[in-house]
Amino acid sequence: MAFQITIEDTGEVYPCSETKHLLAGMMQLGKKGIPVGCRGGGCGVCKVKVLSGQYTSKKMSRDHVSEEEENDGAVLACRVFPQSDITLSVIGHLHKAITR
Ligand code: FES
Repeated sequence: MAFQITIEDTGEVYPCSETKHLLAGMMQLGKKGIPVGCRGGGCGVCKVKVLSGQYTSKKMSRDHVSEEEENDGAVLACRVFPQSDITLSVIGHLHKAITR
């Protein structure tokens, strides 16, 4: 089943199932300029901050998400799979692409 992912910065909502990572769902919005990097948790371009909702995450590079940031909800979207509806805020490189 698909959960509803809300991008707080723009108010956009996209569906994402628990088997797809948050970045894959976001790419289907068809926005130009969404930086697609490694999709493997290594480059850091897809950083977002989860404001609410449950998710599971795979290993992320500490170079891109510090422990402190992670405790604050920062994750790499390509490593995160939703377990409920999620509200997130885009940060880093992604912010420019999403909000322009
Ligand atoms: S796309 Fe490289 S860390 Fe997500």
